Amino acid sequence: MLGVGSLKRVVKEVTADVATARDRDPAARDVGTVEILAGWAGVQALLAHRFAHALWDGGVPVAPRVIAYTTRAVTGVEIHPAAQIGADFFIDHGSGVVIGETAEIGDQVTLYQGVTLGGTGFARGKRHPTVGDNVTVGSGAKLLGPVTIGRNSKVGANTVVIEDVPPSTTVVGNPGHPVRVDGRSVDGPDSDWIHLPDPTAEALKAMSERIAELERRLADATGEKSPGTAEVTELRPKKGPSSAGG
Ligand SMILES: CC(C)(COP(=O)(O)OP(=O)(O)OC[C@H]1O[C@@H](n2cnc3c(N)ncnc32)[C@H](O)[C@@H]1OP(=O)(O)O)[C@@H](O)C(=O)NCCC(=O)NCCS
Repeated sequence: MLGVGSLKRVVKEVTADVATARDRDPAARDVGTVEILAGWAGVQALLAHRFAHALWDGGVPVAPRVIAYTTRAVTGVEIHPAAQIGADFFIDHGSGVVIGETAEIGDQVTLYQGVTLGGTGFARGKRHPTVGDNVTVGSGAKLLGPVTIGRNSKVGANTVVIEDVPPSTTVVGNPGHPVRVDGRSVDGPDSDWIHLPDPTAEALKAMSERIAELERRLADATGEKSPGTAEVTELRPKKGPSSAGG
């Protein structure tokens, strides 16, 4: 059953979780504890989960699920009471996060809004992701199935992860593919998953070239000046400072 030891552990974890919010969210830096507890949905959801999880571990019936359900209604964050979450966990912006029953989350993990740690079907047993220490998961990312995200890795916004991610690796895209390992670009054949061909731009470019050819022929025939080819720019991500935070 739930004892004094469990309660002490919960209080200690909650204090650490508020400190984590202040540390991890620039907007919370100079904000007092009460204000964070009142206004940070991710912290509220975690606080409620710590309590529900302690009750779940203590074998208390019904209450853990009621707490999880109410928390979801208030914060938009759904965490199964059985999910295991380590120290210094932070959900930035809260809303839309789903953490499944058999998910395991290490220490110093950050999730942004809209992240799902979900299953892939109706399988029983371990069916949700295991997230290593010091992992950041960008907004909207979906981590599906019993995949393992290695420690110190980053999952880009809107990435869909369906395979294990090695430690210290940045994955982006759908399906998620490594673009950085230990901070360096991934080399080798088939390693560039970002700069994929842009069929729309290529079709427009081909059409533009044909129009230019027709205009050239018309100009030759009539003696009028051709306006020249319109430039079609390939759609590529812009270079610049990267945002792994919000
Ligand atoms: C993935 C991420 C962590 C990358 O950070 P990083 O390690 O500094 O790596 P880079 O920014 O150098 O990005 C590596 C490459 O992946 C690309 N990339 C980055 N994020 C991407 C994403 N979400 N989807 C697709 N491609 C992405 C970059 O364009 C870059 O391509 P390049 O090699 O051509 O330059 C970061 O871009 C991200 O998505 N962070 C989540 C932020 C977030 O969710 N904020 C919510 C605030 S409310």
